[in-house]
Amino acid sequence: MTIAIAFDIYGTLINPHGVVDELTRHLGDRAQAFSSLWRDKQLEYSFRRGLMQRYANFPVCTRQALDYADKLLQTGLDDSVKDSLMQTYRKLPAFDDVAQSLQALADQGLRLYGFSNGTAEAVNGLLQHAQIDQFFTGVVSVDEVQSFKPDPAVYRHFSKVAATDLDRCWLVSSNPFDVIGAVAVGMKAAWLQRSDTVVFDPWEIEPTCVIHRLDELQEKLTL
Ligand code: 2OP
Repeated sequence: MTIAIAFDIYGTLINPHGVVDELTRHLGDRAQAFSSLWRDKQLEYSFRRGLMQRYANFPVCTRQALDYADKLLQTGLDDSVKDSLMQTYRKLPAFDDVAQSLQALADQGLRLYGFSNGTAEAVNGLLQHAQIDQFFTGVVSVDEVQSFKPDPAVYRHFSKVAATDLDRCWLVSSNPFDVIGAVAVGMKAAWLQRSDTVVFDPWEIEPTCVIHRLDELQEKLTL
């Protein structure tokens, strides 16, 4: 059985800060700070909902985090602007290194999956919009188990859907909490450090390998 590779979506293949241009039109030089708060709060809401076992899907977390950021920063975005930002979130761009790297991995006959907090519908839409959907065997969403990363249940669900033992499953993610969650249940995990300023959490759990661009992945995979 060949390995199965689970690609995290937001932050790894798809840039969640692709909303900054639109935010800049409304908020000027506060756009970057708004985008960062929005993303951080979106993830916090997913963690809290997972812990509380009060699941509401990722688009709900995203919208509630948008409302929170608007309130905290007192930016007064009206509902039509928020609705438009949510639509933009469904068409976020892929990072520059993604298409070529996925093509090279798919050419090797490897099984690639999208694996995300996002709903399958949203993730399929993003992959199609970025014209990279053809490289994937499938999309696995945490929505299928009504919980969020890094609940061990979601990584075990991935292994089950991919019909591949956990130690033959790889996660590729720029999100340290995701990498730690995968390694903790016995998966392999490549941490994609997209910026030098991002720090890996100083826990007792390390990534299997660290890469700085997606095209470094191929030589790191132990097949
Ligand atoms: C994802 O699951 C964690 O946002 C990240 O796509």
